[in-house]
Amino acid sequence: MTRTPVNVTVTGAAGQIGYALLFRIASGQLLGADVPVKLRLLEITPALKAAEGTAMELDDCAFPLLQGIDITDDPNVAFSGANVGLLVGARPRTAGMERGDLLAANGGIFGPQGKAINDNAADDIKILVVGNPANTNALIARASAPDVPASRFTAMTRLDHNRALSQLAKKTGAPLTEIRRLTIWGNHSATQYPDIFHAEVAGKNAAEVVNDEKWLAEDFIPTVAKRGAAIIAARGASSAASAANAAIDHVFTWVNGTPDGDWTSAGIVSDGSYGVPEGLISSFPVTAKDGKFEIVQGLDINDFSRSRIDASVQELADERDAVRELGLI
Ligand code: NAD
Ligand code: LMR
Repeated sequence: MTRTPVNVTVTGAAGQIGYALLFRIASGQLLGADVPVKLRLLEITPALKAAEGTAMELDDCAFPLLQGIDITDDPNVAFSGANVGLLVGARPRTAGMERGDLLAANGGIFGPQGKAINDNAADDIKILVVGNPANTNALIARASAPDVPASRFTAMTRLDHNRALSQLAKKTGAPLTEIRRLTIWGNHSATQYPDIFHAEVAGKNAAEVVNDEKWLAEDFIPTVAKRGAAIIAARGASSAASAANAAIDHVFTWVNGTPDGDWTSAGIVSDGSYGVPEGLISSFPVTAKDGKFEIVQGLDINDFSRSRIDASVQELADERDAVRELGLI
């Protein structure tokens, strides 16, 4: 194999998403079947042993594309020369914890990781934040990395996008391959807005095909927006395989592009499009080309959509204000 390996750093590597993610990266699903990778696993010190166990299993798969695994508890080492960073490890909310406490605890993780990315990563670094609250954690990391272009910091809403695709396919009976141009707007939280007004089912407008505003408002939107909580209630743990799958989809699309005529959803830094304040990391309809995401422009936003986008964006602005007050950005 002659290609230079791509350095992929995964934080929280010993967690449940990490376990579902690493084998797929090593088998070539993140970047392509002909792209060799080196893995850097970042964990907190008590979890290093578990990460070593996963690394032993990765070895035992004999993946031809996997050209090395480093395990560390030092973000500077983990991000040294990193081309892709999947920021999965985060501080979960525990009983009695206020929102401010959660944001502060995550600031203690994503601030130093942002700085380590700034100081050590490769020039072409691409960051996907998965750990919650993903959009605001991405904002914190980005603020600590002033030398890295803001466009390299993204937050994951691809899982919400995939959830919305599945729900719409079920409702319409159309195969998933016939559904295009869905959008998740706003925050990766229960305020997110899955938008079918520009989506197409077999070439026809999805909202017209569905023609059921009650289903849209009372079934589709809450099902997608609260799916994470429903999975936690059912499994006793948050989504892991589907989250890892979405992370793979997000980075694969970012690197390899969106299909002609379609778009996807990703949390990216706002340039002010669609009234989303500049600098917020919000989910938008995006295309990807030549390793860059771009916001799809020119969509008409009806009143139904406007109020829902505004509510989710307001939540993002509130989170930004809270971390600003805490001195994290
Ligand atoms: P988990 O608790 O199983 O694993 C998290 C891992 O992160 C642990 O191994 C922990 O030791 C590690 N970790 C904690 N602090 C760290 C630090 N400073 N540096 C490196 N590693 C650190 O959790 P999980 O199920 O893998 O989920 C991870 C995160 O992803 C959670 O925040 C979860 O809410 C979020 N999530 C996001 C989405 C999304 O769509 N954006 C979907 C599912 C889950
Ligand atoms: C999900 O959407 O499945 C997760 O973000 C839920 C969570 O709180 O971890």
